[in-house]
Amino acid sequence: MTIDSSMRLAVVGGGVVGLSCAWRAAVDGARVTLVDAAPGSGASWVAGGMLAPVTEAWPGEEALLALGVESVGSWPGFAARLAEASGRDPGLRADGTVVAATGSGDRAELETLASYLDGIGRPVQRLSGRELRRLEPAIGPEVRGGLSVPDDLAVDNRLLLAALRVAAEQAGVVFVARNATAVADDGTRVTGVTCDDGTVVDTDAVLVAAGAYTSALHPALDGLVRPVKGEILRLGHRPGAFPAPTRTVRALVDGRPVYAVPRDGGGLVIGATQADVGFDREPTVGGVRDLLRDAERVLPGVAEFALLEVAAGLRPGSPDNLPLIGRIGPTGLLVAGGHHRNGILLAPVTADGIVALLRGDEVSGAVRAADPARVNRKVDA
Ligand code: GLY
Repeated sequence: MTIDSSMRLAVVGGGVVGLSCAWRAAVDGARVTLVDAAPGSGASWVAGGMLAPVTEAWPGEEALLALGVESVGSWPGFAARLAEASGRDPGLRADGTVVAATGSGDRAELETLASYLDGIGRPVQRLSGRELRRLEPAIGPEVRGGLSVPDDLAVDNRLLLAALRVAAEQAGVVFVARNATAVADDGTRVTGVTCDDGTVVDTDAVLVAAGAYTSALHPALDGLVRPVKGEILRLGHRPGAFPAPTRTVRALVDGRPVYAVPRDGGGLVIGATQADVGFDREPTVGGVRDLLRDAERVLPGVAEFALLEVAAGLRPGSPDNLPLIGRIGPTGLLVAGGHHRNGILLAPVTADGIVALLRGDEVSGAVRAADPARVNRKVDA
């Protein structure tokens, strides 16, 4: 079964989640309008692009791990379909991920992660500092041990956004370059999306995928998604500098997490700080200092790289770190939000879930666990 071709769907938000859902719903038959003043310019643009459910895993977050593992498994097929639909390379990298620890506290924390993964049947390979350097010669002598996780991948988020935009346009998605201010309803069902110039996009269904701004769009979403600031750097390789690693390198440095995601051309994306400070998108001196200092302790060669860009983005945090994917509030309202650190990873599984819901099909067990009903009593059962 496919989506009823008479269905008008308005997607609010043109980040990776909104674009993915809009593209897939349009391919499936819906008449899709995407409302966003500047698609692809928010957190998805700032992101590092890790597709890393295992190295982001933590005890107590099993539902998130299951969702992430399902999505990372979908990524190669998703990227291939996107490349075919857009004629563009979406920038998937399949080189894997290593995790590095410096001090004894960091090594103990990695051992907690490794033992947890052993215990749930997802063993990872433990490596000494020397073994890590054999895999990635860019890793410096302060690193004493770590893990190898070949199935945690990465994608160039900016190539991805460009490919999604083209694929969505080719599938017939109409882009409305305005900011949405509210989802309108008649008390029972949604009727439209109100924009900041007072115009209304009439529609049968609305998917709110507005990242950190999701909660403001309808009372049923109030308080469910909050901004979590992250500062991130983009570095370029310079002639004579030590080559960047091939794999994503995640590390703990005196308890602080840092990661370096390679880009074609030898560059690196270094991230990311994490702070609950509201809608503040200004990078700080302290945040940049911490990232540079910690990255250099793990990858000493970055000192010779060019500092190309400093940015901050707002992750959309949910109450329990699991996204909200499903129906909520009045008939016709859906949400794909609260993806926190994992929006790019979870885009394929989120789009699968939203398309299934629009078709009236069952969603997978992992997507069902992300039903907003778990955190909001106003949801239609
Ligand atoms: N997924 C990495 C981050 O949110 O910084």
